[in-house]
Amino acid sequence: MSPTWSGTKAGREREKGNTMKIVVIGGTGLIGSKLVAKLRAAGHEVIAASPNTGVNVITGEGLAEALQGANVVVDVANAPSWSDEEVMNFFTTSARNVLAAEAAAGVGHHVALSVVGTEKLQDSGYFRAKLAQEEAIKAATVPWTILRATQFFEFIGAIADTSTKDGTVVLPPVLFQPQAAEDVAAALADIAVAAPANATEELAGPERFRMDELVQRYLSATGDSRRVVADADASYSGVVLKDEGTLVPSGDSYRKGAVRFADWVSNSAAQPQAKAHYGGASA
Ligand SMILES: NC(=O)c1ccc[n+]([C@@H]2O[C@H](COP(=O)([O-])OP(=O)(O)OC[C@H]3O[C@@H](n4cnc5c(N)ncnc54)[C@H](OP(=O)(O)O)[C@@H]3O)[C@@H](O)[C@H]2O)c1
Repeated sequence: MSPTWSGTKAGREREKGNTMKIVVIGGTGLIGSKLVAKLRAAGHEVIAASPNTGVNVITGEGLAEALQGANVVVDVANAPSWSDEEVMNFFTTSARNVLAAEAAAGVGHHVALSVVGTEKLQDSGYFRAKLAQEEAIKAATVPWTILRATQFFEFIGAIADTSTKDGTVVLPPVLFQPQAAEDVAAALADIAVAAPANATEELAGPERFRMDELVQRYLSATGDSRRVVADADASYSGVVLKDEGTLVPSGDSYRKGAVRFADWVSNSAAQPQAKAHYGGASA
């Protein structure tokens, strides 16, 4: 429930049943491009905002212009560099710039994508930066909804690559409930046209696995001969996971993706994969 929603321009548009202007920050990325396509298919005016389209949330270039008349902003940008300092700088600066531009433009809803378990992953610079991004959103004046998603299926190959030592993949046997990027985009499309929750929601896949087992299934299904070995002391994103439930939703009340792993992986050779793995070799 949001007391501010019905009084906003976005709220009035929505009540009239009109379409909205929605700006997707990071709209050219893995999730962003799928989200832009879904929102456009639903008839909304959508701007895919990213450096490639002339909008930079760090320098501020093109931001005020893109947000002019926008009802909703969905932030699915990711940092180009994941060293501790650079990733923190990216998510705090982008949050500050985007939220200030939204306040100036009268945007009625800020939606952002974060990661399930972020507060339990604070030994990682990437997740410290995601928590700082969440805190900036909660402290700002713009009504908001944060969607915390589990890992994307498209990210599993990168997890394997950054956890490979001497040709063997070493991973903790923690609970793991990833979902297809398509389902993440669908959940965000749904949230973007709803009233702001001023709360954090969670999203996970339809099935729960152990991380080592699912990564082995992925490698076998994609013709990769690497073997996966379970080791409870192995780190994930640079963090040793003391709690086996760190990467799965905190309660029973969460959004569930529809795409099952077996169906996704049988098509995965044709899918774009996530670019890198936070906290891994590329950080
Ligand atoms: N990987 C996972 O499993 C996972 C799980 C849960 C949540 N998430 C979250 O999902 C979000 C999106 O991830 P993704 O894999 O879709 O990212 P991605 O494919 O790497 O795309 C990143 C996007 O950010 C844009 N961007 C980079 N610098 C920018 C800047 N200065 N100003 C504006 N836009 C900028 C890029 O634009 P250009 O194309 O122009 O460079 C691109 O559109 C991230 O916030 C991440 O934390 C990821």
